[in-house]
Amino acid sequence: MRVISASLLLGVCAASIFAYDSAVERQKIDEGYPKVTVKWSVPDESKIPNNEYGNMVRYGKKLVNETYSVIGPNVKDEKMRFTGNSYSCSSCHAEGGTVKYQAGFVGIHARFPQYQARADGVATIQNRINGCMMRSMNGKPLPDNSKEMKAIVTYMKWLSVGAPVGANVEGQGLVKVSLPDRAAEPKKGEKIYAEKCASCHGANGEGIKNDGVVGGYMFPSLWGDDSYNTGAGMYRLIKAAQYIKGNMPKGAATLSDEEAFDVAAFMNMPSHKRPVFKNREADFPDRRVKPVDLDVAPYDDGFSVEEHRVGPYKKMYK
Ligand code: HEC
Ligand code: HEC
Repeated sequence: MRVISASLLLGVCAASIFAYDSAVERQKIDEGYPKVTVKWSVPDESKIPNNEYGNMVRYGKKLVNETYSVIGPNVKDEKMRFTGNSYSCSSCHAEGGTVKYQAGFVGIHARFPQYQARADGVATIQNRINGCMMRSMNGKPLPDNSKEMKAIVTYMKWLSVGAPVGANVEGQGLVKVSLPDRAAEPKKGEKIYAEKCASCHGANGEGIKNDGVVGGYMFPSLWGDDSYNTGAGMYRLIKAAQYIKGNMPKGAATLSDEEAFDVAAFMNMPSHKRPVFKNREADFPDRRVKPVDLDVAPYDDGFSVEEHRVGPYKKMYK
């Protein structure tokens, strides 16, 4: 009963109530000292030593680049089937996380543990990896002590050599986009998709697979059963627009911000079926730091779920 009456009340006061609060977010992510920013630098692969440490770096690199072949849904050993789709981590984190502004892993070991709004608590690097395992890869978590988790973390540490603990790295994350004044339009996105994306990702978002049963993707799917699920960052409009704007079409990323939003809205529109992540309502328990681009209640700000799905977003920020 309390929930119902609260949302009725919010409906009435919609114009004056804002849930998302950037000051609260700044306070929550504060680590207590000023951040330094260091240059992007990918270590020299030929220097990976021939010892047990080096073997783990190499195994981690393989796990990231050819995830499907070691822990994918079609591998022979059923106990090793951890991911639910045939992606690699590199399907998004291109080239093993070594590409700037494509959610790269350079310097990442120095950024964890860190506050994460999704669980409203501090996440370790293992927690973060398993976030993508369960959502982007539509799978199940790797045990912290498994050889595979250790190898991925060891590879990430290798990619972070020289980055001081707590530092940011120039080129980490995704590019910034300016938020359009209007809601994103899937209809406009459909046209962009046909012209600029379908050649690689398929007319129906199905992608193009490599040969072989465990083969993974040459060009990853963007929707359908074998894709990221509704709990993934890529399912959120602003994140997807940022990713696309900075990196797609691959090799010729020239879309305007509005085009990136429109094509992202087309990619993620509800009639494009994809696996469903259960209990998304439990994500972002502190509504003051809940991102504005989730198409899932509860929000306390009076904007509808549909508005949160496609925008316009500017008026949702405090
Ligand atoms: C469908 C796309 C997709 C796939 C596949 C994927 N991720 Fe991610 N991952 C993302 C996005 C989007 C982010 C958020 C980037 C941002 O907001 O800067 C992210 C963030 C991360 C981060 C935190 C990055 C940072 O800078 O804080 C880690 C670590 C990570 N992913 C690991 C993995 C691993 C390991 C795999 C494979 C097991 C994987 N991801 C697969 C999309 C994906
Ligand atoms: C020339 C081929 C090519 C074109 C054209 C292209 N992509 Fe991609 N796309 C890729 C490849 C390859 C990857 C895997 C990551 C990488 O290597 O950069 C990818 C990854 C992605 C991903 C993350 C992986 C996933 O499955 O979610 C998204 C989202 C995406 N592309 C969207 C688009 C959109 C939208 C367009 C059109 C504006 C587009 N791409 C055009 C080749 C292409």
